[in-house]
Amino acid sequence: MDRAEFVIVANRLPVDRDEDGGWRRSPGGLVTAMEPVMHESQGAWVGWPGQAGIEVEPFEFEGTMLVPITLSADEVELYYEGMSNDTFWPLYHDVIAAPRYRRVWWDAYVRVNRRFAEAAAEVAAEGATVWVQDYQLQLVPRMLRNARPDLTIGYFHHIPFPAYGLFSQLPWRRQVLEGLLGADVIGFQRVADAGNFARAVRRQLRYVTRASGIHVPNPDGTTRVALAKAFPISIDAQSYSDLAEKPEVRARAAEIRESLGNPRKILLGVDRLDYTKGIRHRLKAYGELLEDGRLTVEDVTLVQVASPSRERVQAYMQLRDEIEQDVGRINGDFDTMGHTAIRYLHQAYPRDEMVALFLAADVMLVTALRDGMNLVAKEYVATRNDNRGVLILSEFAGAADELGSAIRINPHDIDGVKEAIMTAVEMSPSEQGRRMRALRRRVREHTVTDWSRAFLATLAASKRWQGSGG
Ligand code: G6P
Repeated sequence: MDRAEFVIVANRLPVDRDEDGGWRRSPGGLVTAMEPVMHESQGAWVGWPGQAGIEVEPFEFEGTMLVPITLSADEVELYYEGMSNDTFWPLYHDVIAAPRYRRVWWDAYVRVNRRFAEAAAEVAAEGATVWVQDYQLQLVPRMLRNARPDLTIGYFHHIPFPAYGLFSQLPWRRQVLEGLLGADVIGFQRVADAGNFARAVRRQLRYVTRASGIHVPNPDGTTRVALAKAFPISIDAQSYSDLAEKPEVRARAAEIRESLGNPRKILLGVDRLDYTKGIRHRLKAYGELLEDGRLTVEDVTLVQVASPSRERVQAYMQLRDEIEQDVGRINGDFDTMGHTAIRYLHQAYPRDEMVALFLAADVMLVTALRDGMNLVAKEYVATRNDNRGVLILSEFAGAADELGSAIRINPHDIDGVKEAIMTAVEMSPSEQGRRMRALRRRVREHTVTDWSRAFLATLAASKRWQGSGG
């Protein structure tokens, strides 16, 4: 196997397995983000194929060397469902659900992180750049640095980093901070996340921090500087805008409106079925507006796409039951023969269909209780070439830092969400245009390619700077 100058290490490979055992590019944003960088360098991608027990040798896919990591069924349960998604996920999203701290999960997390680090160390060429992605792999930067001090190591945290008062609950808080500090640059979505991380490092490890620099002691008594900074992720805005121009997609949008009985306004929510997304808060506000008679099902329909996610984790199973009960109640109370209050879809859709839904929707509801970024907000905006449509956006989503012209809400304030929905439904076309133009400008001027280039340029510069003796 050829060694690579540039290596991505992520929990998931950028491909999914199809029915006949072949591989197909997965739709995720990270895959798109990495495409240009991968093509410029001889890239490799280390990751899990997404199913337990699959053993596959490294193989080439569209010019990238893919290095599959095998996880046993036990490891999927302990490392992925347990430690990653029942401990870190809820803890880092402000304990909206209660994190569980289990030592067997932690042990598996360490073991699996080591496997990823070893695979990356093996595939990386002398002096290569390795970019580790997200909370499933927080120990990999340190493990890699120990094994391969010649590498330049970046890490990007796609989800929030919590306030120290919450982070300090973690029994393994020191190991996690030390793990992350193995990187030369540690990227976060928001300035506030980078600040929370630096504070945790000061409080827990007593290291000195200056602006975004963290002084990390080396084993030989010298120090190096690791950078902790915000690099808000984005989307490939042009591809969404192009899809929105396709005649088939536009026809599909009209068909969707028609099939919903041509309501005056369509409200839309698109989320993974996750308790961080505030889906129940949104249903509550909408149900009360119907109850109050301020909206009627003849006028308005809410389409809620909740794509299946982490279905073997208890908190997700419970949330699904609760949402389905809420939807059933609201529809039972308010549907008529010809109109429905909520069209609920527990399914995942290809990108074309999502864009058709975005075009059909007059109002996009993003009511996350906590979210690293929320790319759906950016995708909606990118498809609105007509400068129409209204985005309602939670201040607890990272996207709120950039999308100031959205209608901003606190999803916990149900009356506030109700008012925001009414404002959106009644907004004049000229006001929609004024806001949408500003939103679109931001999304078009800061794309996912800008994101990866900015991160990698900072990473390259940090290494040069360390190399010159600081
Ligand atoms: C979030 C995380 C990603 C994760 C994705 C889907 O966006 O930041 O790391 O891949 O959710 O979750 P899953 O558990 O299916 O990978």
